[in-house]
Amino acid sequence: MLDTQIRKMSVNKEVKRVTTHTLQSMKDNGEKISMLTSYDYSLATIVDDAGIDVILVGDSASNVMAGHETTLPITLDQMIYHAQSVVRAAKRCLVVVDIPFGSYQGNSRVALDSAIRIMKESGAHAVKVEGGEEIKDSVIRILSAGIPVMGHLGLTPQSIYKFGTYTVRAKENAEAEKLKEDAKLLEQIGCFAIVLEKIPATLAKEVAASVSIPVIGIGAGGDVDGQVLVLHDMLGINNEFSPRFLRKYLNLYEMINGAVKQYINDVKSNDFPNDKEQY
Ligand code: KIV
Repeated sequence: MLDTQIRKMSVNKEVKRVTTHTLQSMKDNGEKISMLTSYDYSLATIVDDAGIDVILVGDSASNVMAGHETTLPITLDQMIYHAQSVVRAAKRCLVVVDIPFGSYQGNSRVALDSAIRIMKESGAHAVKVEGGEEIKDSVIRILSAGIPVMGHLGLTPQSIYKFGTYTVRAKENAEAEKLKEDAKLLEQIGCFAIVLEKIPATLAKEVAASVSIPVIGIGAGGDVDGQVLVLHDMLGINNEFSPRFLRKYLNLYEMINGAVKQYINDVKSNDFPNDKEQY
């Protein structure tokens, strides 16, 4: 990937693409990295136009787009479909795609095939995987093909049936020590960044200070190099999900619900369409 890759847009504006190297410079210069999820063309267009640094095509699509209870059911084909839609929209930001459960663990050849499919078929710029030491071989093999890899430690939702709950991880010493070692390992083998999800802020701060690559937090406090949220959560689309770390910037559930009710009312009362809204 070229650091200075320039894309000519149809409106003839030159846009400098955010790359993994840009993120590294941001960490080095103390500039915070902004990251949000997106799964479709329309919302990704708005998010990219707003100036986000990174769009994550997260496997949280399994929850927010498909309505599954966990991230486990989403398939590689479905992730590629979401990634293709986002890549069509993203003119400036770096697009990172989650490799879904079952497509990289335990077999580095399968991991490489999955990562290559994502890169080739969607045009995304990097992949993300969950775990440390246990997926080391897969990460090394993906990296060997020149594919940038983002790690993900702490609460790793693909392991929900091992954890049993979505509560804060690494509160105990042993788990915190393993997480610190895993972060060092991911840095050492060549990951370009690490997501830390739902761990104590003091631990996240320590990890961010101990590695040279960017550490992006979700529910991991402010002393890391950037923040990520699930777009649908921060827009308030799902009003049942309100963990402590989530800041809701809109209540889109209420707004959309209100607009739909108004539309129903307008149709039933014959107010819509009016004379100007027809041919
Ligand atoms: O899938 C996802 O949305 C994620 C973020 C929570 C980091 O992995």
